[in-house]
Amino acid sequence: MFLGLDLGTSAIKAVLVDDEQRVIASAETPLDISRPAPGFSEQDPEAWWQATLASIDRLKAEKPAELAAVRGLALSGQMHGAVLLGAGGEVLRPAILWNDGRSIAECREMEAAWPDLPRVTGNRAMPGFTAPKLLWVAKHEPEVFARTKKVLLPKAYIGYRLTGEMVEEMSDGAGTLWLDTGARDWSDEALALTRMDRSYMPRLVEGNAPAAALKPELAARWGMTAAPIVAGGAGDNAAGAIGLGAIRDGDAFVSLGTSGVLWATTARFAPNPAHGVHAFCHAIPATWHQMGVILSAASAFGWWSKVAGEAPGVLESRLGPAPSAPAPVFFLPYLSGERTPHNDPEARGAFVGLDHDTSRETLTQAVMEGVAFAFRDCLEALREAGTTITSADIIGGGSRSRFWTSVTANVLDLPIHRVADGERGGAFGAARLARMAVTGEAPEAVCTPPQRVETVEPDAALAARYAERHARYRALYPALKSYNI
Ligand code: XUL
Repeated sequence: MFLGLDLGTSAIKAVLVDDEQRVIASAETPLDISRPAPGFSEQDPEAWWQATLASIDRLKAEKPAELAAVRGLALSGQMHGAVLLGAGGEVLRPAILWNDGRSIAECREMEAAWPDLPRVTGNRAMPGFTAPKLLWVAKHEPEVFARTKKVLLPKAYIGYRLTGEMVEEMSDGAGTLWLDTGARDWSDEALALTRMDRSYMPRLVEGNAPAAALKPELAARWGMTAAPIVAGGAGDNAAGAIGLGAIRDGDAFVSLGTSGVLWATTARFAPNPAHGVHAFCHAIPATWHQMGVILSAASAFGWWSKVAGEAPGVLESRLGPAPSAPAPVFFLPYLSGERTPHNDPEARGAFVGLDHDTSRETLTQAVMEGVAFAFRDCLEALREAGTTITSADIIGGGSRSRFWTSVTANVLDLPIHRVADGERGGAFGAARLARMAVTGEAPEAVCTPPQRVETVEPDAALAARYAERHARYRALYPALKSYNI
């Protein structure tokens, strides 16, 4: 029996997975975000911890014998967040999250100070990443920075509370901008840019390797006689990839969640920082991945549903199963800036091409297409970095929409597979990493693909019309750039 935990932004989820890889129980506890100023996004690490305990306690109430039989556990987590700890391991301020945009100036400063940064880390400096957040704290909260002795990512903080040890793994480590991603080790130069050194960093392990053991008092709380191993775990996207079996070169998926991700596994470190491609380590040894990340995906649809005053399911149900033609209106989904391909935290969204006949349905379709065009930008950026993608799985809340999946297949001009449990996500992948850490099984033996319930093929004529629309969409961002905030 294995336990997988996923520390998301809106909830923490715990799943129990048996030796046949069946999910036998799950429990979820919601989390709140605080936005103390425009562009800021924070959470209280203590709230994560209480939600972790609540979720596992719920599994105990539901399946006590199965929870007691857990041999290993691992965490998947929202990436990039900064948890600042003092000398005694105490939390010094609320965690600054992946979707926080306050450190724009610090990003520019870091790249100017060390032009080799994108080459070594594989990534441009972006405010979402961890390192610029620390430079912001050093400048704006010097007394907090002076007391900071360790910086942990969100899931490593929960790992610390579970085990008493500070350990990080490669996939999340790469999202800090402090990792030499090709060498899979902390970079002294990158750390020095933010006035830090290795003493601030946790120990590094691979995601499928043992990291520490669960504290005996927690093992006793959950009825476990032997303290289970806690594995390295993974950032949420890498954990999702492990769950989908995306471990071979070119394996790809689209995640239509709050933010959107186009993922491709790579057998080598293959950066393309100029176009905002994220080049990170995978959660298994000697494997990397690329991601195009768009900051507003399902959240753009959530925004539109609020403005239109109708639930997302109702809006979507008016569109039918697939588009017959592109909408005559463009939507730019940059509601909170954009990472790939523009690396522009100040970019903003737009509807373009409205007339007296524009209906709510047209705008609903335009919003879905705008997100799909943003994924097409990601696909082209990944291709430029040498990656070949021939098909992709689709996961995340938006993947429940047949219409949106069909738009995505036609805009990307790729077959898109809908999977049996499109939402099983990071917690399931984390349980697989725990299993590998305990049994020593090879990733190929454990990371089997999910059941594919449907493959949505692109239609050649429609894909050609979307390619033409995408070229016009591409011209809109530079044309509208001067209207940024
Ligand atoms: C990836 C990213 C998001 C978060 C969401 O770079 O910022 O996908 O990991 O949890």
